[in-house]
Amino acid sequence: MHALVVYESMFGNTRAIAEAIAKGMSTRAKVRVTDVVDAPAEVPPEVDVLVVGGPTHAFSMSREATRQDAARRGGAHTDVPAGIREWLRELPDGDHPQTFVAFDTRVDLPLVPGAAARSASRQARKRGFTVADPESFLVEGYEGPLADGELDRATAWGRRLGEQLEQDLRTKAAFRAAGDAR
Ligand SMILES: Cc1cc2nc3c(=O)[nH]c(=O)nc-3n(C[C@H](O)[C@H](O)[C@H](O)COP(=O)(O)O)c2cc1C
Repeated sequence: MHALVVYESMFGNTRAIAEAIAKGMSTRAKVRVTDVVDAPAEVPPEVDVLVVGGPTHAFSMSREATRQDAARRGGAHTDVPAGIREWLRELPDGDHPQTFVAFDTRVDLPLVPGAAARSASRQARKRGFTVADPESFLVEGYEGPLADGELDRATAWGRRLGEQLEQDLRTKAAFRAAGDAR
């Protein structure tokens, strides 16, 4: 199984979560992790699972204006003009056989609604991906740090994701083989 993890990160927290998820998945998959600014313009054909994550900005995925705001607060990991919203939008139309899974980071405030991963999942569903349940990871303030235990939770989530998706791929392959034999 091949997984591509694409992340956007202004202060480094989402990047750290992306790497922890990749570590968890790597027991079951060959995983490539890339900053969205270096992500391929098309999902490579060998990829079975696309994992996409970004920071929650203004209740959703970031936009250029919110990234500029983050840059003014000292964030610098991602180029301001490009985020996961723009990358997803620019993916070519057509069949997307990969499973899509989104994650995000957001502040640890129960009454603040919205999460980038939910918006990304909605956008991916519209683009024709099969979408698995998204997950949020918590930071303590705009710049971070990550809340206690979130890196370990991300690794465990990645491990479970890898196991579940590997099982799904096996089931699909078995159905295909049974169909071919008929
Ligand atoms: C402009 C801006 C808007 C934000 N809006 C929200 C928000 O609506 N909800 C939320 O939970 N966190 C919000 N945050 C906090 C971010 O989620 C936090 O900065 C991010 O998770 C840190 O991830 P990063 O280090 O990968 O950039 C906002 C941050 C910035 C800079």
